[in-house]
Amino acid sequence: MKYRNLGASGLKVSVISLGAWITYGGSVTDKKKITKIVERALAGGINFFDNADAYAQGGAERVMGEVFGDIGVPRHHLVLSSKVYWPQSDNINDRGLSRKHVLESVDRSLERMQTDYLDLYFAHRFDLETPLEEIVEAFSDVVRSGRALYWGTSEWSALQIAEAHAYAKANGLVAPITEQPQYSMLYRERVENEILPVTEPRGIGLVVWSPLAQGMLTGKYDGGIPKGSRFAQLEQTAERFLTEENRHKVEALKSVADDVGVSRAQLALAWVLRQPGVSSVITGATKVDQIRDNLKAADVELDEKAAEIEAILTS
Ligand SMILES: NC(=O)c1ccc[n+]([C@@H]2O[C@H](COP(=O)([O-])OP(=O)(O)OC[C@H]3O[C@@H](n4cnc5c(N)ncnc54)[C@H](OP(=O)(O)O)[C@@H]3O)[C@@H](O)[C@H]2O)c1
Repeated sequence: MKYRNLGASGLKVSVISLGAWITYGGSVTDKKKITKIVERALAGGINFFDNADAYAQGGAERVMGEVFGDIGVPRHHLVLSSKVYWPQSDNINDRGLSRKHVLESVDRSLERMQTDYLDLYFAHRFDLETPLEEIVEAFSDVVRSGRALYWGTSEWSALQIAEAHAYAKANGLVAPITEQPQYSMLYRERVENEILPVTEPRGIGLVVWSPLAQGMLTGKYDGGIPKGSRFAQLEQTAERFLTEENRHKVEALKSVADDVGVSRAQLALAWVLRQPGVSSVITGATKVDQIRDNLKAADVELDEKAAEIEAILTS
């Protein structure tokens, strides 16, 4: 495993990380299976595990808390994150980024995850119904009160990130150190054109989600949709990714992967890790074999193939 500083902070995150969305407590409920995947991830050097209050409505935080407890991982070996924004119930205040919801929600996440603090706490989206000042002050207080060590944003616009950072700096508050955007070979324009120009100069590191385009880039959908796979469960996601254009690109990437002697999953993850500003790729895995495959991406060198890959992706 390789580790990178998260942006300009001193926090080191594994370049490959593991997230719980859709999978743990959702499509994978067998705790023994989740434990095996997490054990493999830890053995391969993964230290960063991403989560959110919204994943399986708290179920993902709960099961991951139990799994880490059962395995007995020392807390300081882990970089644990969670997020707040999406509605947690029908209650009008149980959503968004008001000071009330942020401070109440973080305590519920800590309880579910059986930990005294998070390493990273994310604003899962921007909240247009709460003033930016209130949001930054609330997250700054989460950090100052010791409930989290750092905070970040997810899927915020460049302007929102820049304004939050500037407000924190101007007012002696804790500024965000990370942004969590979607980024992969098949979804790149927003990060490259909009987000990076704002995050890089401010020392804000990217930890990116769906780096395998939810499995599309692994090649598992070359011959149709396998039973039990994510696209078999999520029709809209399948429709979004299974376009003719994407199919051609993923097929063309096979010969590059074969030349390098790696799987397409490893190629896709290694490609994201070559891009500027990226500290970690947050992968998902429903099977031990998947995490085993993905872990190897940390050591893949693509310098000689970069131009060939770029030609395929921009064709
Ligand atoms: N901030 C946000 O708004 C946001 C949004 C989405 C995700 N996230 C974070 O990002 C994490 C990763 O997202 P993601 O799960 O979409 O990432 P992904 O790595 O692009 O896709 C993961 C899925 O692809 C399949 N897969 C993974 N490795 C494979 C391999 N080697 N061979 C074949 N299939 C493989 C598995 O699906 P199947 O086995 O089910 O087919 C797996 O669940 C989430 O858990 C979450 O922490 C954040």
